Amino acid sequence: MIFCKGISSLNTVLNSKEFRNKSLGFVPTMGALHQGHLSLIRKAKAENDFVVCSIFVNPTQFNNPEDLKLYPRTLDKDAMLLAAENCDILFAPEADEMYPDGLKKESADDYGYFIHVLEGAHRPGHFDGVVTIVRRLFELVNPNKVYFGQKDYQQCLVVRELINRMNANLSFVMCPVVREEDGLAMSSRNVRLSEAERKASLVLSQALFQLSNSWEENSWVDALQASRDLIQNNPLVKLDYLVVCDPNSLKELDSFQPNAIALVAALCGSTRLIDNVIMS
Ligand code: PAF
Repeated sequence: MIFCKGISSLNTVLNSKEFRNKSLGFVPTMGALHQGHLSLIRKAKAENDFVVCSIFVNPTQFNNPEDLKLYPRTLDKDAMLLAAENCDILFAPEADEMYPDGLKKESADDYGYFIHVLEGAHRPGHFDGVVTIVRRLFELVNPNKVYFGQKDYQQCLVVRELINRMNANLSFVMCPVVREEDGLAMSSRNVRLSEAERKASLVLSQALFQLSNSWEENSWVDALQASRDLIQNNPLVKLDYLVVCDPNSLKELDSFQPNAIALVAALCGSTRLIDNVIMS
């Protein structure tokens, strides 16, 4: 694997004979890699001539400075995991190269209803930071296909819209949520959970599965309330939202719809976790 620390080394490698005119899959990450990320690398490897993974903890998408400070940074271990998956290029730039004019971000306010709800409402400015850095990364790497995890479902909708607006010849691939054996969705933030919080965090996936198993035409209001109760009855977990939405607009549903998506966010101790299940 080739390790590019800066933009000029990335350009040199991408323009070299080995990589020019080949199909390129791209997996943008913030590091602290887990099996969820590695599943994206594997999918990208299977579908492209070569794969670039970026690791950059993007300061402009953190609305909480403490969360940015505590975000796990494990570059050496990440590089080993990527090399073991035969990732071809690791791009790990510094902030001053990604933001040469300071930490300014573009606005995603006009992307549609879905940008303002859920994470958009709970983390003001978060998606502005995401679209700013993702656009910059897409322009630098210039991939053919990009791979994102369904765990960040709302982010997937946002990036899909960004790609439409960029008018880029770029395919978007959303890969399924990867879970621990007990059901917890894999996340870089899981390492911050204490033993008790880790146990408590299970109510998130349990609530989603319970809901998707009992989501039927006549009883969906009760099913939703029962799942919310399951989370709210756990003293270590503070529910931000558990909603069932239209999968494209993220408008909350007020009647049964077979292709709905259930999304949840909650604080486990001081760690904010999100998860979702498509109710197919
Ligand atoms: O999902 C993430 O890890 C980040 O939001 C992303 C897409 C790498 C942008 O910083």
